[in-house]
Amino acid sequence: MLVIGIESSAHTFGAGICEGGKILANEKEMYHISTSGMIPGRVAETHIRNAALVIGRAMSKANVKFSDLEGVGYTMGPGMGPCLQVGALSARTIARRLGIKIAAVNHCVAHAEITRNMAHMSDPIVVYVSGGNSQLLRLQGSPRRYHVIGETLDIGIGNMLDTFARGIGLDPAWGSTVEKKAMSGSYVELPYTVKGMDFSFTGLLTKALELANTESSEDLCYSIQETSFSMLCEAAERAMLLSGKDEVCVSGGVAQNTRLREMLRKMAEGHGSRFAAAPNEFNADNGGMIAFVAERMLEKGYYTPIENCTVKQRYRVNTAVVP
Ligand code: FE2
Repeated sequence: MLVIGIESSAHTFGAGICEGGKILANEKEMYHISTSGMIPGRVAETHIRNAALVIGRAMSKANVKFSDLEGVGYTMGPGMGPCLQVGALSARTIARRLGIKIAAVNHCVAHAEITRNMAHMSDPIVVYVSGGNSQLLRLQGSPRRYHVIGETLDIGIGNMLDTFARGIGLDPAWGSTVEKKAMSGSYVELPYTVKGMDFSFTGLLTKALELANTESSEDLCYSIQETSFSMLCEAAERAMLLSGKDEVCVSGGVAQNTRLREMLRKMAEGHGSRFAAAPNEFNADNGGMIAFVAERMLEKGYYTPIENCTVKQRYRVNTAVVP
């Protein structure tokens, strides 16, 4: 089934084309973050400007025509309301014009599923780490859903790293800039908070920002990464051992961080378990993962009537069926 997927939950407007589980195109344009962070209305305006361009680019890259499309997927949530609306409207417009069905996709399910499938894992612990979310997930039940077995008690790790980057004046204020700076840093002690399989990042963020006047940015970048990633590793290790799983994968925007992948790999392989991550193109927000999940949803009859294709800013992962 030839399906277009549209992603617009945060700073990325993405369009992907999928057929038979194969991603034929995965195009995107991003809002460029400044020191003021993401202002939802402004990000949405950027998406509106980019939508037709990105969709057109994906169609030509996949070498397909609109009349070839058999289904549409879009990110229903979670995410920023004004941004999600742009993707929902794009999907409804395409579906109404072509008379095809729509799948309303949960963004977190899409991240977890594209990684699980690319890694050829059947039942892993998924360490899902992005700007707005940080959760340990596992598939359970019938119909299958991702259950949250551990999660952040306050903010997402990506949000924490981006806020820290802005707070110490890094430009661009992304976690990737923190990763580069961390390469030449040394360890400074910071608060470490794990409660069972849950974890907390705000105390760590506050302390790291407080130390910005006395410690070098390299040392703080190194220490904030080492501390927060160790917290994730401890919680993931506990989740893996208590659930008896022997597969761990990492997905979401922060899964692009090489150091985090290295630490999780060491932890998993230390227990004889398999570790995997998807290529970075699919860890960052992208339309390809939405198209991938939408195709399976539509094939199994999970479509949403067009009048119900709205957005859910707080669309919790464990409420979405995994087709
Ligand atoms: Fe994401």
